Amino acid sequence: MTASSQSVEPFDLVIFGGTGDLAVRKLLPALFHRFLDGQIPASSRIVGIAREALNDAGYRALLREALIGICDAAKLDVFLQQVFYRSLDARKDAGWDEFAGFIGAQPDHVRVFYLSTSPELFVDICTRLGHYGLNQGASRVVLEKPIGRDLASANQINDAVGKVFTESQTFRIDHYLGKETVQNLLVLRFGNALFEPLWNAGHIDHVQITVAETLGVGHRGAYYDRAGALRDMVQNHMLQLLCMVAMEPPSSLAPDAVRDEKLKVLHSLKAIDESNVSQLTVRGQYRAGVAEGASVPGYPDELGNNKSNTETFVALKAEIANWRWAGVPFYLRTGKRLPSRVSEIVVTFKPVPHSIFSADAGTLSQNRLVLRLQPDEGVKLWLTIKHPGPGGLRLRHVPLDMSFAEAFGVQQPDAYERLLLDVVRGNPTLFMRRDEVEAAWRWAGPILAAWSASGEAPRPYTAGSWGPSAAVALIERDGRTWNEDQ
Ligand code: BG6
Repeated sequence: MTASSQSVEPFDLVIFGGTGDLAVRKLLPALFHRFLDGQIPASSRIVGIAREALNDAGYRALLREALIGICDAAKLDVFLQQVFYRSLDARKDAGWDEFAGFIGAQPDHVRVFYLSTSPELFVDICTRLGHYGLNQGASRVVLEKPIGRDLASANQINDAVGKVFTESQTFRIDHYLGKETVQNLLVLRFGNALFEPLWNAGHIDHVQITVAETLGVGHRGAYYDRAGALRDMVQNHMLQLLCMVAMEPPSSLAPDAVRDEKLKVLHSLKAIDESNVSQLTVRGQYRAGVAEGASVPGYPDELGNNKSNTETFVALKAEIANWRWAGVPFYLRTGKRLPSRVSEIVVTFKPVPHSIFSADAGTLSQNRLVLRLQPDEGVKLWLTIKHPGPGGLRLRHVPLDMSFAEAFGVQQPDAYERLLLDVVRGNPTLFMRRDEVEAAWRWAGPILAAWSASGEAPRPYTAGSWGPSAAVALIERDGRTWNEDQ
């Protein structure tokens, strides 16, 4: 059983970077799942664009191989009839006339142009789309993160894209916002009277956000080595999660109501720069080790470049300078080649002010609310109870445990399934507004600058470990530990 779905208008969805990793591993499977759920109108077209000299049949064969495990072949073949391919180079004229005619043939369709390419090509592609009038009517453009590599390049891209597509046509995607638990965070916070009175510095001790991956960079090295973990994960996904935890209640779920509140959080982040970067951040790079039971090479070997200074791990302590959060640390950590794949937000409440229990009863642990994004999406609220049975009073720390899959028997859709159809519907609530991207770069930029000014290499860590020991020290200095209930 899957979640129930609402129909959408007929659309043409064009994926630039159509043979790339994201398109083949995420976007097309997401669309196929929506197709299987009957949500893709029969006249809709999905068009892959890349430079490779493929035709429709060649592209369908490539996708067939990637999608065949999802469902039986007959349904896949029906889906693939709605998939097309055009070979185009954003910087060359050949083929664009024909492509414009092809898209123009369905003038009443919603048009979505998904730019799943290097950000350096965003401007060329948008300029051409504008030249052919493909930005008219119900047209939307989707920009993959990271948008630029700093504030200046992000502004350049946003300015140039803005000459072709209006802000309301521009969807800056951060797929973490499409994850079920992230949306559930909104409902948990604002649909229950229980949490909000406690959701502040008076009651919350600290917040941890972990996004750990077991995978290395694999064949994405060319992109990744220019980005690193701060640009790839922290500037976007992790800051967005932080915003969802920390924002004030929006007055409604209207797109700008939510985004206005997130923006205020980004503006309130305390600066991390040369003066404090060494106390507040740790960067690491993996070395050979064992991941998921197999020996794996270190990052420099995987990349074929021993001199790379790119971080594959970041831990940092952020603070939000406002009335609600003053003095509450937000510890963020993310990395590749860590021991398990887990993304979670842990909100730890303050200890009780006074214990009435004797030392024999055991220790009182702090309440924790754990929001698990993946795997096993769900929510755990850790409480202290009495160990049942006769004898002395013994304290136990146990979770109220709700796995979404077990509670609802519903298979959670991938984040891209929801977000792609939100673009077709024209709903930008779960997408980043331009000013959010700018504010995030304004905070991340000085960290990058301070790292580069320090000239220090990232600290090595063994693949399959939880990062450099300095990341443990970062939180232990404050008398706290990373959540280990993985
Ligand atoms: C992407 C990053 O945005 O998110 C990748 O570029 C990362 O490096 C991925 O692996 C993680 O996404 P998820 O949904 O698998 O946690």
